Amino acid sequence: MPLNRREFLRLAATGLCALPLGIQARIVYAGDRIELVLQAEQSNWLGDQYHPIDLWGMDQKVLRLKQNQAVEIVVKNELPEATSLHWHGLRIENAMDGVSGLTQRAINPGEEFVYRFTPQDAGTFWAHTHHNTYQQLARGLYIPMIVEESSPVSVDQDHLLVLDDWRLNKGGQLDLESLGNMHEWSHGGRMGNVLTINRQFQPRIQVSAGTRVRLRILNAANSRVMAVELPETSAWILAKDGQPLKVPVVLQGSLILAPAERYDLIVDIPAEWKGEVPIYEVSTEQRFAGAYWYVSASNALIGRSPPTRLPSNPMPQLSKKKPSQSIQLKMEGGAMGGLRKAVYQTQSMEVRELIQHKQIWALNGVANLPDKPLLSAKTGDLIEIEIINNTRWPHGMHLHGHHFQADSARYIEGLWHDTLLMEQGEKTVISFQAEEPGKWLLHCHMIEHQAAGMVTWFEVTT
Ligand code: C2O
Ligand code: CU
Repeated sequence: MPLNRREFLRLAATGLCALPLGIQARIVYAGDRIELVLQAEQSNWLGDQYHPIDLWGMDQKVLRLKQNQAVEIVVKNELPEATSLHWHGLRIENAMDGVSGLTQRAINPGEEFVYRFTPQDAGTFWAHTHHNTYQQLARGLYIPMIVEESSPVSVDQDHLLVLDDWRLNKGGQLDLESLGNMHEWSHGGRMGNVLTINRQFQPRIQVSAGTRVRLRILNAANSRVMAVELPETSAWILAKDGQPLKVPVVLQGSLILAPAERYDLIVDIPAEWKGEVPIYEVSTEQRFAGAYWYVSASNALIGRSPPTRLPSNPMPQLSKKKPSQSIQLKMEGGAMGGLRKAVYQTQSMEVRELIQHKQIWALNGVANLPDKPLLSAKTGDLIEIEIINNTRWPHGMHLHGHHFQADSARYIEGLWHDTLLMEQGEKTVISFQAEEPGKWLLHCHMIEHQAAGMVTWFEVTT
């Protein structure tokens, strides 16, 4: 096991450590140091007549990092289970990607793991468990993460809406018995019955009338595609999945977010508003007030001019290159999908046998991680993957460590994504430039689908 810095310094001081100086120098670290404790927490969304609900979370509520500034995040696991943390959407070194069993060993209870990286992109991201993810995410083990632009962006206020749906049982506690329900895994995944925003039930978000708000929205649900409606405001889309648009686009209708997708908006709070104004979630038949703007009067007057774009992140120029690989990725399986067989852990299995292993989805005929990578690329290569959703269900496909562009008609042109919603029957070509060397996942972020087989990996070498 690698030594942590304190142990190393102690050993070095007693002269027990005979490492050459060059190696010692690498341990000295100049960035910010943040401690993040993974721990149990409680919430009482249902009111005081119920017992508080037992959840998992962290000792901080939002992680704020700075673009191009190295950071050292000491993650302490005070939970009863092993875990790991994935920095969703950050383009960082593979060894820091936080995928237990692929890029690191899980962090055992009582242990800590130090993540070190330098975020190159400013924007809205999140960190979440990547170990027994369908269980740990359902318990709430995630944190929104804001990487601040190196020079501040001018808005009056900066707010965050983190949407999640939780499954509570009749006793008003998290329904842990339903975790692993194969019926749900083969359908749309595990849906909750209580919607929270920022881990609160119908929170009030304080704003002043007539001001301009940067609103960052994240869908942290296991499987529910969320739809957010902001009635009677002028809103523009500034960024998706952390990556700024070249020109902000007016938001029309409701904003659809697959699990793990993020949007940054500019919202102008009308000058005549006061009191409570609902923000709706409309993915179900009913319009539900997930949160309220709590508007105080002010003399502020917003300029009605459209917002300016965010400074761009250092993205590759895809159009200047020829793809060095173009492959297909066929999504198969699930309820009514007609899957007959698939390979699971190098063995070909009939569906009945797959289900015994809790597998029901496949990518290119393989359920869960194949022993060989989907593709192997060199840093700098342009990759094209045609993804074909041959299932009866929507999926939110997430690529680790890279952002991609897609020719999907569902989205505004030219967006960068790290997660992409695909409806049943849809085909999309995604393109990206292979970056950091290592093993990277590509999976459905309806996280029960990932657990039930919809996950693969690819390799980047130098
Ligand atoms: Cu946000 Cu592999 O996940
Ligand atoms: Cu899926």
